[in-house]
Amino acid sequence: MAYPLPEGVGFATRAVHAGERAPYPRARPVASPITPSVSYLYEEMADLDGVLAGERPGPVYARYGTPTVNALETAIASLEGASAALATSSGMASIHLALLNTGVRSNTTVVAAQDCYGHTYTLLSSVLADHGARVCFVDMNDLDALEQTLAHERPVAVILETISNPLLKVADLPAVVELAHAAGAEVIVDATFTTPWLCRPLEHGADYVVHSATKYLGGHGDVMGGVIATNRPRRQALYELLKLVGSVLGPHEAWLILRGLKTLPLRVQRQCENALAIAQWLETHPAVARVNYPGLPSHPHHELATRLFAGRGYGGVVSFELAGGGAQAVFRFLESLRVVLPATSLGDIYSLALYPAMSSHRSIPAQERARLGISDNLVRLSLGIEDLADIQADLDQALRATQR
Ligand SMILES: Cc1ncc(COP(=O)(O)O)c(C=O)c1O
Repeated sequence: MAYPLPEGVGFATRAVHAGERAPYPRARPVASPITPSVSYLYEEMADLDGVLAGERPGPVYARYGTPTVNALETAIASLEGASAALATSSGMASIHLALLNTGVRSNTTVVAAQDCYGHTYTLLSSVLADHGARVCFVDMNDLDALEQTLAHERPVAVILETISNPLLKVADLPAVVELAHAAGAEVIVDATFTTPWLCRPLEHGADYVVHSATKYLGGHGDVMGGVIATNRPRRQALYELLKLVGSVLGPHEAWLILRGLKTLPLRVQRQCENALAIAQWLETHPAVARVNYPGLPSHPHHELATRLFAGRGYGGVVSFELAGGGAQAVFRFLESLRVVLPATSLGDIYSLALYPAMSSHRSIPAQERARLGISDNLVRLSLGIEDLADIQADLDQALRATQR
């Protein structure tokens, strides 16, 4: 079928078709190929009909999935201990789809962690609220207040992060899930900061795990994507939604994330080691007033984090407050860095520094930021895999610059 080409076809026909659609070689490639084709050929139309009817799997059209994206989804499901996974074009697309899939509509309520990622906060408080959904932001570490809110609001969904951003609080996941389920809500856990190497929320009863795959899963700062791990019925419903809203992942991006996954445990282990060492060192630094890192015994959720993350580590992100100086001092710190990059992201092999008040949490009103404890002196570090001594020396010279 359309291969090989009929004898005698002209130059333009050969330019279009020659070499395409060859049967796969008998030996399979070891690494997954990138399959950019938008559409797919079936020898028999009855076969295609069966695929379109959902009776059997198979690629048809790239918005419905591609072999490369499917390979990534299989890998994510395996790492999360999920029966199924779905990939999307960004972490925000995954969060949006998961929320829609729980049944968030006008006159329904979502209970969300008050210190969730800035754009999750804004998606809830602006976009979904504009569509008539109610949103209640709560402190996920105050289980009594959470229980009261759940009983009063009867939400369709509860959404929280394994480690919150940028204050690095750790929620008691099993306890939150139990309370949410008792109130009839589904639970979405954004596990971007922990990755399945440290924490698999489905094992704690969560209904959806979402990741910004842009971060640790891709890991190299060169790809955007999102993933959702869940059970098969929810995956099917999410898939039907994804086909309609169209926020699909491209095959090139899927391939990069799939490749990133291969070194995930090695990278995250090293990032955790670097983060712990830097957090301990920052605690002793004269230019630093306070350090947030769940690996420090001084952190209020240290023991909970040790239990939840099975002692494997506490993540690669550390935040700290400069001893004073506000935005000007933070700017001086960021501009003085030479190894650590003052760039917006986290989870990369590169060490990155970010000013939450200016970037990740800019969309949250200043008063609300202050109420949440996100001060104008707060800096967030995402530790990479460089040599610890080089990261520390760079941070030291930049911190000293804030005191001049
Ligand atoms: C915890 C968390 N969740 C979700 C997102 C959104 O991911 P993306 O930028 O891939 O849409 C981010 C982005 O920084 C994040 O930090």
